[in-house]
Amino acid sequence: MKISVIGTGYVGLVTGTCLAETGNEVLCIDINEEKVKQMQNGIVPIYEPLLDVLFDRNIKEDRLRFSTSLQEGIDHGEIIFLALPTPEDEDGSADLSYVLGAAKDIGKLLTEYKVIVDKSTVPVGTSDRVKEAIANETTVDFDVVSNPEFLREGFAVDDFLKPERIVIGSSSDRATALMQKLYSPFVRSGNPIIIMDEKSAELTKYAANSFLATKITFMNEIANFCEKVGADVDMVRLGMGTDSRIGKRFLFPGIGYGGSCFPKDVKALHKSGKENNYDFDILNAVIKVNDIQKKILIPRILSHFNMDLKGKTFAIWGLAFKPETDDIREAPALYMMEELLKHEANLKVYDPEAMPNVKRKFGDQLQYANNMYEAAKDVDALIICTEWSIFRTPDLDKLKQIMNNPVIFDGRNLYDVKEMKAEGFNYSSIGRTS
Ligand code: UDX
Repeated sequence: MKISVIGTGYVGLVTGTCLAETGNEVLCIDINEEKVKQMQNGIVPIYEPLLDVLFDRNIKEDRLRFSTSLQEGIDHGEIIFLALPTPEDEDGSADLSYVLGAAKDIGKLLTEYKVIVDKSTVPVGTSDRVKEAIANETTVDFDVVSNPEFLREGFAVDDFLKPERIVIGSSSDRATALMQKLYSPFVRSGNPIIIMDEKSAELTKYAANSFLATKITFMNEIANFCEKVGADVDMVRLGMGTDSRIGKRFLFPGIGYGGSCFPKDVKALHKSGKENNYDFDILNAVIKVNDIQKKILIPRILSHFNMDLKGKTFAIWGLAFKPETDDIREAPALYMMEELLKHEANLKVYDPEAMPNVKRKFGDQLQYANNMYEAAKDVDALIICTEWSIFRTPDLDKLKQIMNNPVIFDGRNLYDVKEMKAEGFNYSSIGRTS
């Protein structure tokens, strides 16, 4: 099939590349000329495991092309994906100006029937607004479909190629049939394509992300309580997670959730509730608890150093909001570093992928190490913010030798508490006291 993707951000690029992989002819459109040139030269503008391999292959086989011309995009695809940003407005709601602006332009350029697919995460009712924005500009027949994505950064290619489910919100049989044809190669394993109305599809995305953020946040509160009563959150997690109604995943406590989705989507659903006279008390609590959780280690660090961090040097391992990405949006590490800088501490940081992004944001306020041990050399304590695999089995003897003090504040519970104590570390983690 001929497919166009408008917007080559994270979602657009993964969608376009993976759809080319199943034999479709994909044309990706972006207004950023520099970026389009880069992509035409085979350079992937984001870090995402496996994406470069697929990208390369499909460009070579001429199934994946790039352009800055919206007209070309509209003419090319029988299905046109909108994968445009929906950033958080000042009031927490989703800013739809990119999506609605593109819809208007599409309306002006449409010459024959097309299916316009909304892939961006948008508030309930947006597909109606997209329909209206297009219809105001044209008399040509078209359909608008909502098709939320559930991609995790770091696993996006795998998630796209082997989805647990595909959700399609559509009220047109013609559009539904085209979408089913497009996605059928991805669900040969028997996983479902769930067809529903547009509003339910739009809400599914917000509900899924908000539920997962709530699950993590609930566990963070249980972890905090474990510390008060001397329980071990790892044991509680196992005891709970083996109940299949609860499930083992997304029960890992830490210094809060971050990223480009959870924080934004929880706030947007909360705001959407307000606009529709519904107060999501639970989401209010999730937002509040997560804000506190991102800084949960700070009082502990302060107390360890007698409330004075001035001139103390800390190593920070892990800056990305989670492993296997260079994305630092809403990363708990950022909040941690900002707090420590306020207390006039010196910070030596290391992350396997996110260093360039952090450098751009923090400049010379931080010292940038070339590896995890260089970061830990001569520091008063080590703080772990992201659970990259490389941090899971450090050379503890070497660490003890190079650090000024063997003190670790672990925001991701990477090590065994008893073992660390036996190794002579002053080790503090989340929800585990012994
Ligand atoms: C998420 C959803 O998983 C995905 O379906 C959606 O499309 C986009 O948002 P992503 O933001 O890439 O994906 O990351 P995810 O792996 O879900 O982690 C989100 C945050 O939660 C990270 O900061 C992570 O560290 C944190 N997290 C996750 C926990 O603190 N504990 C857990 O048990 C799981």
